[in-house]
Amino acid sequence: MEIEPDFFAKEAFYQKIKDLDKTIVIVTHTNLKKHFGHYLKKRLIAHGIDTKLIDFPTGEKAKSEETIAKIQHKMLGMHLGKNTAILALGGGIVSDVAGFVASTYNRGIPLILFPTSLLAMVDAAIGGKTGVNTKYGKNLIGSIYMPEMIFLDLRMLNFLPDKEWTNGLAEVMKYAVSLDSHVFEILENGLDKWAGKDPAFIQELIIQSCQLKISVVEKDTLESGYRRVLNFGHTIAHAIEVCEKYEFAHGHAVIIGVLVEAYISMRAANFPEESFEKIVTLTRAYNFPLKVSKKTTKKKIMHAMQYDKKSKDCTPRFVLLKSLGEVHSFDGEYCTEVKNSIIENALDWMFTLFKEV
Ligand SMILES: NC(=O)c1ccc[n+]([C@@H]2O[C@H](COP(=O)([O-])OP(=O)(O)OC[C@H]3O[C@@H](n4cnc5c(N)ncnc54)[C@H](O)[C@@H]3O)[C@@H](O)[C@H]2O)c1
Ligand SMILES: [Zn+2]
Repeated sequence: MEIEPDFFAKEAFYQKIKDLDKTIVIVTHTNLKKHFGHYLKKRLIAHGIDTKLIDFPTGEKAKSEETIAKIQHKMLGMHLGKNTAILALGGGIVSDVAGFVASTYNRGIPLILFPTSLLAMVDAAIGGKTGVNTKYGKNLIGSIYMPEMIFLDLRMLNFLPDKEWTNGLAEVMKYAVSLDSHVFEILENGLDKWAGKDPAFIQELIIQSCQLKISVVEKDTLESGYRRVLNFGHTIAHAIEVCEKYEFAHGHAVIIGVLVEAYISMRAANFPEESFEKIVTLTRAYNFPLKVSKKTTKKKIMHAMQYDKKSKDCTPRFVLLKSLGEVHSFDGEYCTEVKNSIIENALDWMFTLFKEV
């Protein structure tokens, strides 16, 4: 993995891709095609690299089996074979979709990740997970497939809309709350730097996040136990995304999930109340959007959680906080069942505070 401010201007970047000696298929969001996609394609071709460009619409709804099939068929129609590599240029949706295509096309072709959103840089591009959404749940169809190269280009963030910054920060909050109280302190002291998009501060958040995720993934590549810690906040978040019919940004669902699961931790696992209050205060200070629409109801959340991949016999299991920056191990399972009354109580709390007015 490399971090640089402007890869497109660096000869070494093109040389690394040229050394793969493959036809490159850039897979990107439609709205990034015009500025980034076409430009990168032109530059790769200028460096003697055979390059194609495929785009698909933005939004969680497009992270689907239909999109995967469309991309695969486009590539088959172009007569592309094993001598092809995919370059995923975009946010987490692009890396999840393009990564899944790379892992299955011709039974696996090389994958290069070029994440462009903060969320993809701090989370989605790290760890090798790919996947798509179905009506049953998020990311239930997918693969674990490691990329050959990852290029984190901080200059890309200059074009990122404000709400996408907040979505990325939600995953940083997840790391801070569940894995590293030092990152929590960095966030507590970094409000002004965040408001000013201070490059050194942003780079620090990205590096800290990548290091935390890599250290978890290295201990448990196949998600048999410890890797579940990365799922903190996501039992609730994924259920909200299903209820909202994938019209909700992932980061938006994650921050709500972090709060509700911190609440559950307080009621079910002795997570200290003052630490819970600190999380609520920090969330408010960073102005996270904290509303769900009328589509999300308690009953629908309870139903959607049955399909969560940590569920056992349709009963959801949660990663729970022990203290700020630390989760319970539950004998190496890193998740546990929680009484329905506690979950419902936590959801009531969520609705009182956040329901759309
Ligand atoms: N595989 C994993 O380990 C993993 C981890 C975390 C999240 N995810 C997945 O990632 C997805 C969310 O990722 P996301 O928030 O990046 O969503 P996204 O890919 O939809 O990107 C968000 C929006 O920002 C735009 N955008 C991206 N980069 C831009 C740039 N540089 N300039 C201007 N606009 C830009 C995109 O076009 C899109 O409209 C979810 O589906 C989630 O499940 C996967
Ligand atoms: Zn996430």
